[in-house]
Amino acid sequence: MVSPTLSSNPVYPVVWKQDRVVLIDQTRIPQEFSVVEITRSSDMARAILTMIVRGAPAIGIAAAYGIYLGATEIQTDDRDQFLTQLGVIANELRATRPTAVNLFWAIDRMMKTARQTLGTVAHLRQVLLETAHQICQDDLATCKAMGDNGLTVLPASPHKLRLLTHCNAGALATAGYGTALGVVRSAWTAGRLERVYADETRPRLQGAKLTSWECAQEGIPVTVITDNMAAHCMHHGMIDVVVVGADRIAANGDAANKIGTYSLALVAQAHNVPFYVAAPLSTIDFSIPDGSHIEIEERDTAEIYKIGNTVICPTVGVDYFNPAFDVTPANLIAGIITEFGVFKPEDLKTALFDKQGS
Ligand code: MRU
Repeated sequence: MVSPTLSSNPVYPVVWKQDRVVLIDQTRIPQEFSVVEITRSSDMARAILTMIVRGAPAIGIAAAYGIYLGATEIQTDDRDQFLTQLGVIANELRATRPTAVNLFWAIDRMMKTARQTLGTVAHLRQVLLETAHQICQDDLATCKAMGDNGLTVLPASPHKLRLLTHCNAGALATAGYGTALGVVRSAWTAGRLERVYADETRPRLQGAKLTSWECAQEGIPVTVITDNMAAHCMHHGMIDVVVVGADRIAANGDAANKIGTYSLALVAQAHNVPFYVAAPLSTIDFSIPDGSHIEIEERDTAEIYKIGNTVICPTVGVDYFNPAFDVTPANLIAGIITEFGVFKPEDLKTALFDKQGS
């Protein structure tokens, strides 16, 4: 099995090359298209923590390769010792970002594979590499299916659609193609899209920097707005539909996504604009009944008071709060677009629970 080759169009953010993982450095886009080569699991953990690689499915894929890299660093042929040491590496990768469940899903799958594979440690390493490739390839196919399924619920309209999205749920956030931007890509190819509106997505600006860049790479018309402009745009009839990604969806359909998604969903409801979440099965966490059980990552407050290296607010006598995600209640979500079809949040468990174990 071979991973796709690295390029900026189409975009493949995590690529296996001979003996290393090549990551598109997402902290440098759009100023620069550069890559970071990773050969050690601890460097992969750092790349996830510092958001060189980001977006729920991409983090999962990166962590899967991180487990394999860790497996190559372990210096023992004793299977039990090998598994114990791999468990330590898995925990280091798990500790990087708490909200995106795809991280834990991918690591658990790699560890389960390691435990269940018979034979020598050398054979086990080989199977782990194949599993990481599989996770990556499956995600690409999943995103394409999600994009096409999304087409079936986009509002019927005499004109082409104006679609608003938040953060970056694109190729950069997945193996390629994207979840919410997968729907965008499919709609664009089908001739149903007029324009994407991209929320800038304070504080890390994934919409302004990454979503706009991805759309521009493919010639998809895109307008960046600041996060506080969505209500104004909807009030003026400029938005037909909202599609966002997710980092973790609870069994009842409550969906955690980038901070600001919840307020966008409220604004969409107030203007009768349908609000969809596009996410693969690996983002659904059936172990938690609702969104109150989702751990919300809090990041360095410097992300708020600085833009780049420039301090924009007082740093003395002022406190800052920087939750990286929020939870949109299921009742604000018109449907969850998955690789298996589009489901009402309340139907998610009945429709998909059995598929997750299979
Ligand atoms: O903090 P980030 O940039 O990793 O957050 C990413 C998001 O919130 C995305 O919307 C989500 O992971 C879906 S990605 C297909």
